[in-house]
Amino acid sequence: MIPLKRRKVSLPVNQQNDTCKFPHVSIFILERKMGASRRAFLTRLGRSKGFLIEEIYSSSITHVVSENNSGDEVQAWLGNQTGQDTSSSVHLLDIRWFTESMDAGQPVIIQDRHILKVKPKPDGDHTAMLLKSYACQRRTPLKHHNSFLTEALEILAQNAEYNDNEGRSVAFRRAASVLKALPRRVRSMEDLRCLPCLGDHSQRVIKEILEDGSSREVESTRQSEQYQAMKALTGIFGVGVRTADRWFREGLRSPDDLIRTGQQLNRAQQAGVQYYDDLQKPVTMAEADVISDIVEKAVHSVLPGAEIQLMGGFRRGKEFGHDVDFIIKTFESGQEDVILAAVIQRFKSQNILLYSDLQESTFDLRQLPTHRFEAMDHFSKCFLIVKLKREPEPDSGAGRDWRAVRVDLLAPPLERFAYALLGWTGSTLFERDLRRFARLERGKLLDNHALYDKATNSFLSADTEEDIFAHLGLEYIEPRQRNA
Ligand code: UTP
Ligand code: MN
Repeated sequence: MIPLKRRKVSLPVNQQNDTCKFPHVSIFILERKMGASRRAFLTRLGRSKGFLIEEIYSSSITHVVSENNSGDEVQAWLGNQTGQDTSSSVHLLDIRWFTESMDAGQPVIIQDRHILKVKPKPDGDHTAMLLKSYACQRRTPLKHHNSFLTEALEILAQNAEYNDNEGRSVAFRRAASVLKALPRRVRSMEDLRCLPCLGDHSQRVIKEILEDGSSREVESTRQSEQYQAMKALTGIFGVGVRTADRWFREGLRSPDDLIRTGQQLNRAQQAGVQYYDDLQKPVTMAEADVISDIVEKAVHSVLPGAEIQLMGGFRRGKEFGHDVDFIIKTFESGQEDVILAAVIQRFKSQNILLYSDLQESTFDLRQLPTHRFEAMDHFSKCFLIVKLKREPEPDSGAGRDWRAVRVDLLAPPLERFAYALLGWTGSTLFERDLRRFARLERGKLLDNHALYDKATNSFLSADTEEDIFAHLGLEYIEPRQRNA
């Protein structure tokens, strides 16, 4: 700050605005970076030529003149003086306009080169300020404006997961998720101001993509042998990161390598390798509809009153999925423990069952709440591979008229239905943040089974997902907006 003494250089009375020839041009000369004596000189010069020059900034000023300041600096100074956004009401001009006007003996027409450029406020600013830091507080549509950034960040997230670095993986996923919730395409780093969850590393990647069109780290990851092999190996049903990593270290790269080297595979992995090509092909919404019918008929043949509902990605509006997830709603206690075995039996008799892994319920409310958040839930469920009828492919000769599809069925007790549905609808990051939000912001423990209030040591009952959001004091987010 300039000391007060120097700032208040008053002008002799006889030099004030008494001979003003251009009353519609009211000039304020900014002392910042110019100094008091130069300002006083310019003021005297201007007034001697009949210009109206004010010493104090006020709303009557039409032209602000400054030297060696950027438009943003002048804007900021004015904002501080007036507490308002003055950008549209005054001309912010470089000293050149003033000196040219002095030479001309009158205010010259304002040319582009006279105007100090002020960066426009980023469009996203308003919404950016409002973006909340938990994914469960945001609406995240499936189709968004920033896939050119989120796909890159998700490659790094995936790679971190392959390297058993969960913290790093979640950080990249959070950053990607925030960009998915933005209402516009990100065009500059400025658009990211005030956004939560964007760490240094993610910002570096985004900056590089904005400036160069791609990120070297992302591209080299995408091309790396480890990334590609881990993707192929974890893409096998029944194979997790640990197993894939062990195989990778042993020099194996693909499902073919597993067969060729005669690797010991468990039952799931055998099916995973056997149906690898089919299971790699995304399941379409149309196929999910056909499977819905098959599952519904099977369920109704056993329990006519039971209902089925899609969960997972298809419930969030995805057009493709890696599997199809269903929840079965039974209305009498105990039915949830028999329905899945009966459905599996029916699929067998229809000759459409290729693989099944039935997990009986181990649910017991007395063992809750659990503090292990990523633990599998205890409901009756089955992981299946079924045959789906299709037209044989023309080039596959006498090829089979079906393809293999992964189907998951979940059968929770009725009073747990809402929690199970919410937990299995995803996305995974949305679920993670729901739990984190419940714990850190509300002192409650949430999982696929229940919501537990630590303050009252009690479980909160819920008939619908809306009830659960309400218990958490969260705005309800519809499934299609949970694509975090
Ligand atoms: P999915 O793995 O099926 O993912 O799990 P998705 O979102 O449907 O996507 P794609 O298209 O199939 O790849 C769906 C949700 O169910 C939860 C997951 O955490 C995810 O949020 N889930 C899955 C469980 O809670 N427990 C399980 O045993 C399996
Ligand atoms: Mn799914």
